[in-house]
Formats: sequence, C-alpha cells, structure tokens
Amino acid sequence: MRAVRGVDVATPIEFTSGFEFVNVDQATFRNALSNFASGVTVVSACDENAHPYAMTVSAFTSLSLDPPLILVCIGQNSARAEKFSQARFFAVNVLSAGQVALSDRFARTQGIDFDGVDYDLWDHGAPILRGAVATLECERSKMHEEGDHYIMIGRVLRAQFDESRRPLLHFRREYGKIG
Ligand SMILES: Cc1cc2nc3c(=O)[nH]c(=O)nc-3n(C[C@H](O)[C@H](O)[C@H](O)COP(=O)(O)O)c2cc1C
Repeated sequence: MRAVRGVDVATPIEFTSGFEFVNVDQATFRNALSNFASGVTVVSACDENAHPYAMTVSAFTSLSLDPPLILVCIGQNSARAEKFSQARFFAVNVLSAGQVALSDRFARTQGIDFDGVDYDLWDHGAPILRGAVATLECERSKMHEEGDHYIMIGRVLRAQFDESRRPLLHFRREYGKIG
C-alpha cells in the first residue's frame, strides 16, 4: 500500500514484454486483461452432420454498421476453432445473468454436448440459445490469424434482443451482473 495525499492506494501490478517477446509472463498478462469487464457470449454453429457445437467467448465486439459486421476471437489451439473455420454460418448468443451454467458448459475442454440445452434454429442452422439477452445470426466472413487466435468476422443476417433480460458479466474471472 502507498499513501497518496493521505489515501491508501494498492501498488499497481505491471506487465511488460519488451520487443523480443521472450519469457512473456503470461499469467500477469492474462491478469491484466481480466480487468476488462465484459459480457459473455456463446458462439455456436452446426457441423456438416447438423451436430451443434459452441464455445464460450468474451472476445466479441461490433466491427461495422454498414455492412453490419461483428468479430469474435477464437483460440487456435481449440479443436472447435477448426470447426468454426469450416462453418458458413454461426450465431453469437449474448448470455443473460442466469446463464452461468451455459457459460461453464461451453467453456469445457471435453465432454461438451447440447443435452438439455434449449435452442432454436433460424434460417441458417446455427443454434440460437433460448434465454439469451441477444442473439446475432451471422454468415462467416474472413477469418484472420493473429498471434495464437483467429479473428472471426461475421456479417449479421438477423439479430434479436430481449429488453426485459439483464446480461451476464465477467470480470477478473468472476461472473457478475448489473445491479
Ligand atoms: C467467461 C469466459 C470467456 C472466454 N472467452 C474466450 C474467448 O474470447 N476466446 C477463446 O478462444 N476462448 C475463450 N474462453 C475459453 C473457451 O471457452 C474454452 O474454455 C477454451 O477454448 C478451452 O477449450 P478447448 O479445450 O477447446 O481449447 C472463455 C472462457 C470463459 C469461461
């Protein structure tokens, strides 16, 4: 603790990587990033046999209004990344405050299934999770490789949102809600 004009302040934690990118302190970098409070999405699609798959993703952002584009970042190490790169359509389901179990389910490394998950299919076959705050059905556009992630861009074909629901939040690896 330091004192600034009589007020105690915690010493900030710092991450540096320099230009060489050797021995990057990943844990501290991740901790630094975890200070960005975000919503939580589940990105979903169906494979060529119509089997649904999905991944919990907080790296989601709007990209363009005209045309309507969004992007999500998907770790290249995940087997699901390869599947998403084959998908023509996908959905971004913005989870609501009561959907922590869905976030945990689709963040698992193995044994992910849709058993007991309520979802609909719109025109393009991507699973639309019931109870989400908002859902965007997208046609996959470009997929860029950057670092150890893919930046997957989607053109939004249809979006639906429910103003009566509140979003699930994520901050420093903990879930939260507004209010
Ligand atoms: C709240 C939350 C947010 C996450 N956000 C992302 C993300 O933006 N991108 C990503 O690739 N993985 C994200 N993950 C991790 C994936 O959901 C998943 O756990 C990870 O890819 C491990 O699965 P794998 O065994 O297929 O690699 C997040 C997990 C949680 C719980």
